[in-house]
Amino acid sequence: MRGRIVLGVSGGIAAFRAVEVLRGLVKAGCRVHTILTRNATRFVTPRTFAVLSGERADVSLWEDEAGPGVDHVALGREADVFLVAPATANVLAKMAAGVADDALTTYALAHRGRVVVAPAMNTAMWNHPATQQAVAVLRARGATVVEPGCGFLAEGEVGVGRLAAVDEVVGAALAALPLRGPLGGVRVLVSAGPTREPVDAVRVITNRSSGRMGVALAAAARDLGAEVRLLAGPGVSVPPGVTTERFETAADLGRLLAAHAPAADAVWHAAAVADFRPTHVEEGKLDRRGGALQLALQPVPDLAATLPRPGGRPYLVIFAAERARELEARAGAKMARKGADAVVANPIDEPGLGMEAARNRAVVLTRLGVRRDFAAQDKEALARELLLALAGEIVASCRR
Ligand SMILES: Cc1cc2nc3c(=O)[nH]c(=O)nc-3n(C[C@H](O)[C@H](O)[C@H](O)COP(=O)(O)O)c2cc1C
Repeated sequence: MRGRIVLGVSGGIAAFRAVEVLRGLVKAGCRVHTILTRNATRFVTPRTFAVLSGERADVSLWEDEAGPGVDHVALGREADVFLVAPATANVLAKMAAGVADDALTTYALAHRGRVVVAPAMNTAMWNHPATQQAVAVLRARGATVVEPGCGFLAEGEVGVGRLAAVDEVVGAALAALPLRGPLGGVRVLVSAGPTREPVDAVRVITNRSSGRMGVALAAAARDLGAEVRLLAGPGVSVPPGVTTERFETAADLGRLLAAHAPAADAVWHAAAVADFRPTHVEEGKLDRRGGALQLALQPVPDLAATLPRPGGRPYLVIFAAERARELEARAGAKMARKGADAVVANPIDEPGLGMEAARNRAVVLTRLGVRRDFAAQDKEALARELLLALAGEIVASCRR
């Protein structure tokens, strides 16, 4: 279990999006107990939240025919994060003032962990000094405020006030969870996906990488308690709760790795980086009427081998996609050549595995002489196993 969250849902039109927030939290491995205001139940039903979370969803403090009511004091001792999404102007003002006249606001006073609020309302209500003051008070008390976005509001107006993107709300709640687990407090930098090297203004040289392995590693590292930063290539969809930056070319990725590696404890360099890029990039569009074309390519600098690692830190894990029959020999040589601490070797010639596929198998070799085999499985499950297998070496390298 990643953490215990109490999700407060108040009575705004965005209440229906709290269902997606709940699903994101559950998917990330959280236990979620929902408390709705009475007005929220005019938009969504407690049952939806109860069924999707497999936990209680309450409206009242009192035992009645609808349920036993919220034991706000006991729940407040157990929960890590209180997330209010959407937070109405009314609930923000009540929380700031310490009013406790229903289950949600009473719980707000009993909660002992971190608080995250995601306001949603129309622009006039958001801009009202009373709301802005309430938000400032909550922020000053340490709450995270997931700023509302700008766009079409329910009333047909355009302005500030709509609930932030679901991933952003989920990410803020996950980021507020205490860091626990085998990688608790470890800073992990992951690269994922393909690079794209321009040929002309519209064409690129790229590869078949989907980024799925790197994304699975980032999500699994987050779930194991790590502080994760993901460098994601084009087309890679990113998980919530993970700080992400985008790259396009190998040179972009090189700059990001150089900027972030010094602050990382471990780098999982899973991106499929181009080995070559066009020597010359045409400014406009190459035209086939020019006849046959020969592209001159030059090698791209080796990002893993040139990663700045003073004193051998951060711990560097590289990936080697090789033919099965020479998998270990080539992967071992690659690890030595690049000065990496570990290599994840996976075959490129076994059907249904590897690039573009949902599954993979791997052999892991480490510089300290460990060798482990991982059977073919979903990349998500494999990522978790790989992280757990190397957690000991990574944590030990942090202490060096
Ligand atoms: C259709 C409708 C939509 C509403 N949407 C919002 C909203 O998005 N944000 C908000 O702060 N209030 C909104 N309100 C007003 C709140 O429902 C009202 O202030 C209520 O007292 C809030 O109760 P609660 O904060 O206890 O849930 C809306 C009201 C109606 C009738």
